[in-house]
Amino acid sequence: MSKQFDVLVIGGGPGGYVAAIRAAQLGFSTACAESAPYADPKGEPRLGGTCLNVGCIPSKALLHTSHLFEEANHSFADQGIKLSGKPSIDVATMLGRKNKVVDQLTQGIKGLFKKNKVTFLAGHGSFVGNEGGQVQVQVGDELVQAKYVIVATGSKPRHLPGIPVDNKIVCDNVGALDFDSVPKKLGVIGAGVIGLELGSVWRRLGAEVTVLEALPDFMPFADADVAKEALKVFTKQGLAIQTGVSIGEAKVGKKGVSVAYTDKDGKAATLECDRLIVSVGRVPNTDGLKAEAIGLSVSERGQIVVDDHCRTNVPNVFAVGDVVRGPMLAHKAMEEGVMVAEIIAGQAGHTNLDLVPGVIYTSPEIAWVGKTEQQLKKEGVAYRAGKIPFMANGRALGSGDPTGFVKMLADANTDRILGVHIIGANASEIIAEAVVAMEFGAASEDLARICHAHPTLSEVVHEAALAVDKRPLHF
Ligand code: FAD
Ligand code: NAI
Repeated sequence: MSKQFDVLVIGGGPGGYVAAIRAAQLGFSTACAESAPYADPKGEPRLGGTCLNVGCIPSKALLHTSHLFEEANHSFADQGIKLSGKPSIDVATMLGRKNKVVDQLTQGIKGLFKKNKVTFLAGHGSFVGNEGGQVQVQVGDELVQAKYVIVATGSKPRHLPGIPVDNKIVCDNVGALDFDSVPKKLGVIGAGVIGLELGSVWRRLGAEVTVLEALPDFMPFADADVAKEALKVFTKQGLAIQTGVSIGEAKVGKKGVSVAYTDKDGKAATLECDRLIVSVGRVPNTDGLKAEAIGLSVSERGQIVVDDHCRTNVPNVFAVGDVVRGPMLAHKAMEEGVMVAEIIAGQAGHTNLDLVPGVIYTSPEIAWVGKTEQQLKKEGVAYRAGKIPFMANGRALGSGDPTGFVKMLADANTDRILGVHIIGANASEIIAEAVVAMEFGAASEDLARICHAHPTLSEVVHEAALAVDKRPLHF
């Protein structure tokens, strides 16, 4: 006898576990299948996906520790805090704390499943068939039937030919979150989000970090002003970033790794390092899903093909998160998970992919929402810009971290806010105001007329809104 549910979710990451909780809240009998043990001591499948186990959460835990370490090394003395010796880092304790945070959160999802009556099925899910208004899925040793299936199988790191990853010396995100010591020399291939965040972690702890990027421009996805400021600051911090390179092979020897590459001028070069991080993007995960068993459309890039509401070509089968188009971000996956559960319940679920905020948790943090200035120029949209540095803000100066700025772009005719770009401390939190404003279709004048608490970093958003109308008060 097969198990029977209204909704079966395949994959227990942010897209999947949130979809399962919402479906259960809406009254459906719901199960969620997950197969990856990640670092579970008993080797049992763990909920939380990439995000909780080997992504967002552990990387932010290490970014926090390494930030404190850098503050202790470089900022305490300026504020009169004296340490009796030079601070040192105990990597094992740092990793232990990170693992504890991960354990707490993954266990927490098990608790949320219990509370919401979601059945956790430990095992790999693969499609078997689609008959009689039911989709048949093999989960581990069991056959499961469901009226609706939500695929949330996420993504995995892309690797490069000629650079085999062993997650000890040559690492993707999994190994790079678990180095047992600080490498003396660390190489990073790819100056994307992982390269910058994890490169920063190990640089702050003392590694000499070289980042090799294939594209000619640094951070081309960000507003050009932000990318320029970020390159200046990261270089000053000690990240050696080379753009326009072409990577060859990597050789692992007794002393570490050597990476052959061609630099931007076409000159052959070699990077010698103790450890190497390969962070060149991620690919959708449909391994062993047997999509063909139900005729599920998968694109050439390996993404499950969906429409704006995450419907696939197979009725009653949806797909959300990293395995479909759009930014590979946990909050985007969660929004889609909720949307699909609500659509299944006959409600009007919606995800606005135009207003998914992006954040890079370096120091300074970088956060944005909406269009960049170069996009508006390309689209021929008339706009007005307001840009205010954190240097003009009392809270930023008082906190000893006045790097960066807030830039707001608004339609020249309607004043509707089209984009907000922040580089500076706490940008990840400040951006929320811009997202709310833009979701409500706010004009820059709306933000300019809203009272912001003083002294806060959010006052720089207020000033940037005033600056759109060329009337800032503190700059
Ligand atoms: P995943 O989290 O990948 O979960 C999919 C799950 O499905 C996995 O657990 C997998 O084991 C399981 N699975 C796959 N196939 C099957 C199957 N056939 N049967 C059963 N189970 C299966 N995003 C942010 O928004 N903010 C951040 O700060 C951030 N930091 C990151 C840092 C790093 C180092 C990395 C690598 C990623 C980071 N991300 C961040 C991206 C974020 O982790 C992903 O966007 C998010 O996890 C996607 O969620 P998902 O549910 O689609 O997929
Ligand atoms: P990425 O797409 O952010 O960056 C990859 C970089 O590698 C790009 O700049 C690309 O041009 C470069 N690259 C590609 N091929 C190359 C090659 N052969 N040689 C040299 N450079 C090459 O991907 P990344 O950093 O691996 O992260 C994957 C995804 O995980 C991100 O896109 C993001 O969606 C998510 N993530 C989100 C975070 C956040 O929200 N703060 C943090 C970390 C990851």
